[in-house]
Amino acid sequence: ASLDAFIRTLPKAELHLHVEGTLEPELLFSLAKRNNVSTLPYADAAAAHAARASFSGLGDFLDKYYEGLSVLLKEQDYYDLCDAYMAHAASEGVVHAEIMFDPQAHLRRGIPFSTFFPGLQRAVADAPARHGLTACLLMCFMRDLGAESAAEVLQQAEPYKEHIAGVGLDSAENGYPPHLFVDVFNKAAAMGLRRMAHAGEEGGAENIWSALKDLQVDRIDHGVRCLDDPALVAHLEKSGTALTVCPLSNLCLQVYPGQIGEKLRSLLQDTKVRVTINSDDPAYFMHSESGGGYLLANYTYVTAVAGLDARQLAQLAINSFEASFLDAAAKKAHT
Ligand code: HPA
Ligand code: ZN
Repeated sequence: ASLDAFIRTLPKAELHLHVEGTLEPELLFSLAKRNNVSTLPYADAAAAHAARASFSGLGDFLDKYYEGLSVLLKEQDYYDLCDAYMAHAASEGVVHAEIMFDPQAHLRRGIPFSTFFPGLQRAVADAPARHGLTACLLMCFMRDLGAESAAEVLQQAEPYKEHIAGVGLDSAENGYPPHLFVDVFNKAAAMGLRRMAHAGEEGGAENIWSALKDLQVDRIDHGVRCLDDPALVAHLEKSGTALTVCPLSNLCLQVYPGQIGEKLRSLLQDTKVRVTINSDDPAYFMHSESGGGYLLANYTYVTAVAGLDARQLAQLAINSFEASFLDAAAKKAHT
């Protein structure tokens, strides 16, 4: 508790955050009303909160996450969603946010790029003046929709590429290994985009190896399951490739059931892997004992389970800037 104020005032970057995962039940219902959407499977915000109280795993979570998106229809809806997240993040000491979005989750509902992207982009452009933070956008491909669909999305994103910092892979991990996306990632690299992949969350250490070797990613999203492979831990220590770890997401989605606290302690105290702390889907991964699901709660939780001190917390914040896609001058200014 004594470290709470320190964590809040520590300037931090958030590097693993899905804007769709910031849709709070209250905003869900206000957008449903504004857009005359009457198909939500919950009676009210309280019922939506209750549905988020527990998840059996990644698949169960993803079903609820995609379902809620039916209220996002207009450019302004995307602006409001992204802006609300940044307002909250700024209040917790986040000074830079790298915000992921899932184009396919909108395209497949008939919402075109020209609707959702300008909404997100306008919110990001307004963020320095409105909230005192910088932000950029990272486009994720849903692995379970395959490589061909990912290639189409990349093509559709071409006119907006100046406003996209990088690409990633998310959604179901098992059954959709990284190597399927080699061609798309090569194209993205040729377009000058940075690259990430969710790996070692639902799936094992082999997906982390493949994301590094086949996709040449700049950082690994999640990656906690590197702990199952000592050679991989050694490789990550040596290369300095950062992991964007999301403690409360891993807890709520039961990565390492019953052992996540000990695994995070081990990752942070027994290895030299470059770890950053992030919130993933803060409107879904609530932990009342840690004070919610946003970045502060993730730092609070990991501080408790891993026994971190102020010096280690400051190092995590420095890691978050160093692993960011900010340019060298901006990194230097923050660290
Ligand atoms: N894993 C995979 N896909 C996701 C996640 C996650 O934690 N959050 C949103 N999409
Ligand atoms: Zn994620």
